[in-house]
Amino acid sequence: MKEAIAPVKNVIATQDVFDSLAGRSYGVPGIGLIHGSTGLGKTTAVTHLFNQVNGIYVVARATDSATSLLSRIMDELGADPMPRVSRMVDHIIEQMSMHERSLFIDEADHLMRDVRMLETVRDIYDATEVPVVLIGMDQIARRISSRKQFYNRISEWAEFRPADLEDVMIMAETLLEDGIQVDPDLLDQLRKSAGGEMRRLAIGLGRIEKLAKTNELDFVTCAHWGDQPFFGSSYRPGM
Ligand SMILES: Nc1ncnc2c1ncn2[C@@H]1O[C@H](COP(=O)(O)OP(=O)(O)OP(=O)(O)O)[C@@H](O)[C@H]1O
Ligand SMILES: [Mg+2]
Repeated sequence: MKEAIAPVKNVIATQDVFDSLAGRSYGVPGIGLIHGSTGLGKTTAVTHLFNQVNGIYVVARATDSATSLLSRIMDELGADPMPRVSRMVDHIIEQMSMHERSLFIDEADHLMRDVRMLETVRDIYDATEVPVVLIGMDQIARRISSRKQFYNRISEWAEFRPADLEDVMIMAETLLEDGIQVDPDLLDQLRKSAGGEMRRLAIGLGRIEKLAKTNELDFVTCAHWGDQPFFGSSYRPGM
């Protein structure tokens, strides 16, 4: 499998969120929210984007406090953490403003636990007005809506959806090596079995590619695949 990012609909939606934030009119707030279930490709889409725009990317953790989160942002900026939170905030604001560096916070659900973390992110946004993008799971949209001051600054949203057949075809075309082609019927079988989850689709495509290579197939059909599982093992509890 190639190490590439397939330009599926969710990837394009992520790009659109960022473009709208970066090109927003005067007075329009600049926080974006990307959310959806596990394995739909949020981190992949955002990693691709922040690399292109020289953004700052951090992953929030369950154990984070404002201090530890800011220390990791400092680290991303190539600076040492400072003992005082306010000094770190000043430094981050200065760097983001001076170099127009957007901030991407993955696993942002963890910010909801601690008002101080969320308010620190809001302070950074208010002082820089550079786009800030939060990436989280399904629950984040609902939880953030109760934090009115933060919620009011969100102007762009993207909810990640399970891949459809067109997306799976784009994935196959982008990721499979040696020009291996797959019958759309088999891709649709994979899509259903994976529930449109990108993580499982990638595993399934890897197995299809392996079958093609082992049997020297250029085109893999449902008949070649048979009824073997696309991921996991055939182990079933109790059997
Ligand atoms: N656009 C894509 N192109 C190719 N592979 C992808 C793409 N999106 C996701 N994948 C594959 O799916 C896997 C899971 O994606 P990712 O980690 O981005 O999901 P996530 O939504 O961030 O999940 P979680 O909520 O668990 O963090 C990736 O490691 C990669 O193998
Ligand atoms: Mg992720």
